[in-house]
Amino acid sequence: MEFVNQIICGDCATELRQLPDNSIDLIFTSPPYADQRRNTYGGIKPADYVDWFLPKSEEFLRVLKPTGTFILNIKERVVKGERSTYVIELILRMREQGWLWTEEFIWHKKNSYPGKWPNRFRDSWERLLQFNKHRKFHMYQEEVMVPVGDWAKTRLVALSDTDQIRDESKVGSGFGKNVSNWVGRDSVYPTNVIHMATECGNKSHSAAFPEALPEWFVRLFTQPGDIVLDPFIGSGTTAVAALQLGRQFVGIDVNEAYCDLARDRLSGLQLQLLPTVVREAQETYLNNGSTRSR
Ligand SMILES: C[S@@+](CC[C@H](N)C(=O)[O-])C[C@H]1O[C@@H](n2cnc3c(N)ncnc32)[C@H](O)[C@@H]1O
Repeated sequence: MEFVNQIICGDCATELRQLPDNSIDLIFTSPPYADQRRNTYGGIKPADYVDWFLPKSEEFLRVLKPTGTFILNIKERVVKGERSTYVIELILRMREQGWLWTEEFIWHKKNSYPGKWPNRFRDSWERLLQFNKHRKFHMYQEEVMVPVGDWAKTRLVALSDTDQIRDESKVGSGFGKNVSNWVGRDSVYPTNVIHMATECGNKSHSAAFPEALPEWFVRLFTQPGDIVLDPFIGSGTTAVAALQLGRQFVGIDVNEAYCDLARDRLSGLQLQLLPTVVREAQETYLNNGSTRSR
């Protein structure tokens, strides 16, 4: 599989044609948002965004394995005092294209820039839309469990009778809980809200996300050796996260300078510190030559 562990320079819709059908386990990406960072890598008008994106998502659909997942980090901006609707339109059109819109995660940006606006508060979250080809996809929930929290130390000491049965919600929502299920647990499943600071250290790309963001999803949706694709790889963050977790990667970016940046970052990973599976993936990457571009 000569496309694996490569940074490929070019338009992802075109470059992806060289990848076989059903070959990718996870697509994790943050494309250019409409009309943003025009000076850095061009801007796509909100009205054109869906038509710009759909040929690319058509290719994503083709290369993703039936058990795979596509996570799209995106957020609509404010245009003339209104939130743009292109993300909502994109979801609808992608469903027509054959995708299932299975979930939406929220990335709560803990360190968003402060500010004062007359008609809104500071924007502190972004969407991570989850799309799948089928309802049954690989998901390794135990990999992202979180500590149960200090509340358990006191709350679970003396359980009432109600705590030991399923206690239905009093408002008839259909939800219920059995508190005794938490006894003896050190960790629990997280929610679909991810609290994480934005990237501050990566000065070479204006829109890099923190490594911890792709890491979380790589753990949740793949196993060591699986292939992670980022078709808008930028400074290479998704590939770094994938390699460090012993996964393989495919990275694509249209901008030659970002491709070089991503390759430099990947070459700089400390081989000797990494477990064998990662070392093998990295060696393949280095042996194949990190200079492929068109
Ligand atoms: C939001 S940035 C990605 C940043 C990345 N997540 C990181 O951590 O560095 C989007 C990237 O998409 C690239 N891009 C724009 N149009 C593209 C296309 N048609 N094919 C591939 N890459 C593209 C841009 O050059 C830019 O680096």
